[in-house]
Amino acid sequence: MPKWDYRKIDYDAIDKERIAPNDFLFKVVAIASFIEITSDLYERNLVEFYAGDEAIVGWLESTWEPEEIQHGKALRRYVETVWPEFDWESAYAGFRKEYGALCTLDEFQPTRAKEMLARMVVETGTSTLYRAMHDYAESIDEPILAEIAHNIHKDEVYHYEQFDRGFEKYNREEKLGRGEITKVIYARLKMANDEDIAIAHKYIAPDEDFEAFRLETKEFAKKFYPYKMAVKMLMHPLHLHRHIENATAATAQKALQILGI
Ligand SMILES: [Fe+2]
Ligand SMILES: [Fe+2]
Repeated sequence: MPKWDYRKIDYDAIDKERIAPNDFLFKVVAIASFIEITSDLYERNLVEFYAGDEAIVGWLESTWEPEEIQHGKALRRYVETVWPEFDWESAYAGFRKEYGALCTLDEFQPTRAKEMLARMVVETGTSTLYRAMHDYAESIDEPILAEIAHNIHKDEVYHYEQFDRGFEKYNREEKLGRGEITKVIYARLKMANDEDIAIAHKYIAPDEDFEAFRLETKEFAKKFYPYKMAVKMLMHPLHLHRHIENATAATAQKALQILGI
């Protein structure tokens, strides 16, 4: 069961007139709602990939999926409250059809430990995105969005921790070295950069060039993206000594910025 309930959030308290002209926010929240609510497809694939591991499969089914779906519902309601003219349902139908076809086990890593690493990269992405969304919401004095983003952020950090435990468990057998771990993280980071966002954007803002949106997100990231947190989470599976970690972190942060993450 999710640890919070989006139905208890006071959506009526949103200052709709003030927030509605914020087109960038509309796109970010709508894109996030599409991707989150499609987690059932991921869940299906993950359950198949980790078949036989009752602990992981049970957690994915009873906790991970309901939490991710709730993220989608909370964000959807936000979009439908502030931008009621947007037809969420039909735009989402287009996204789900196109993106769903790409959500296959082919996209998975070749081993269980490596896929856990890939999941950690994804949860790092979501943890940091919602931290940024929270800070942005506070900067524009929007407490309801700040509350939603904070709740989601906490869930994502928890997901990251669970996948980290899974990685450690499987890596006791697979014994991936730092070179291999880095390769998987890097490959997943490049992939995260990202077809799901591009497809969602196409259905949410069909008249707008995706590159223009990318430029907007870069500006947003410069101000709000918690790069340090991202680097720390991404490098964690390497188990570097602290002084090496600190020395590598600056380079890693540059790499993230170059990748446009
Ligand atoms: Fe999520
Ligand atoms: Fe998550």
